[in-house]
Amino acid sequence: MAAQDRVTWVTGAGSGMGRAAALAAARSGRAVALSGRRADRLAEVRATIEAAGGRALAVPGDTTDPAWAGEAAAAVLGAWGRIDEVVVAAGLNEPRRRWDDQSMAGFEAVVATNLTGVARVVDAALPALRERGGTVVVVSSYAAWTFSAGSGVAYSASKTALGPLCRTLNAQEGAHGVRATHLCPGDVDTDFLAQRPVVPDADARAVMLTPDDVARSVLHVLDAPPHVRIDELVISPVAQR
Ligand SMILES: NC(=O)c1ccc[n+]([C@@H]2O[C@H](COP(=O)([O-])OP(=O)(O)OC[C@H]3O[C@@H](n4cnc5c(N)ncnc54)[C@H](OP(=O)(O)O)[C@@H]3O)[C@@H](O)[C@H]2O)c1
Repeated sequence: MAAQDRVTWVTGAGSGMGRAAALAAARSGRAVALSGRRADRLAEVRATIEAAGGRALAVPGDTTDPAWAGEAAAAVLGAWGRIDEVVVAAGLNEPRRRWDDQSMAGFEAVVATNLTGVARVVDAALPALRERGGTVVVVSSYAAWTFSAGSGVAYSASKTALGPLCRTLNAQEGAHGVRATHLCPGDVDTDFLAQRPVVPDADARAVMLTPDDVARSVLHVLDAPPHVRIDELVISPVAQR
């Protein structure tokens, strides 16, 4: 199926890797549905896509709201009648991430976004993905691929759980032509770094991946021939330690 016939739903689309992936998907001709909590961010991305002649739809909302994902999927289907690809980039961490300083409220918020929120979006999109076969790209983390102590209790645990989430999708939904990729980026220079206990300075950021580096990998996955599954993809800056 040609890229211009596909509908791609991106969460975390207002900033960072989600925004870059949404712009790249739109440049390839895809119609792109943009989700995140900040409507103003989505409006900027939508305007950027439309100014370049692309097609975009803003579907704002919170992935931790149990009702939202189903309503959002219905909005995308109402507008375009199909969902072929889902890129789940919404994620959360917090500065207090050690056993001796985290709160259980903080733990639950991170797990609700990074694990349950991802499952909600996939669950809502699956009936549409099963219709013609489809692709799920879960933006997980280097911390899911190899244990990274500094990433935190909740973050490390929630992101690590995304590997099995993708593998169960592949094991159970492959018969419907659905394929999932567990995408594990190393350090990327985005707003996300503000959630670190020690926020990296400009020199540290200069050697990190850019959102566009990751977006290129996302498009590589989405553009793979339909019989090809990329189970896991780790992308890191050469400087990653
Ligand atoms: N930067 C890194 O070094 C790095 C490395 C590995 C993996 N990651 C992962 O990459 C993904 C994208 O992060 P990023 O680095 O591109 O940072 P980012 O720009 O902060 O992107 C995170 C996005 O998630 C959205 N989001 C957060 N909570 C949400 C919720 N409950 N509902 C809906 N949207 C929500 C945010 O938008 P709103 O605030 O508007 O909702 C934001 O657009 C995350 O899953 C992160 O864990 C980041």
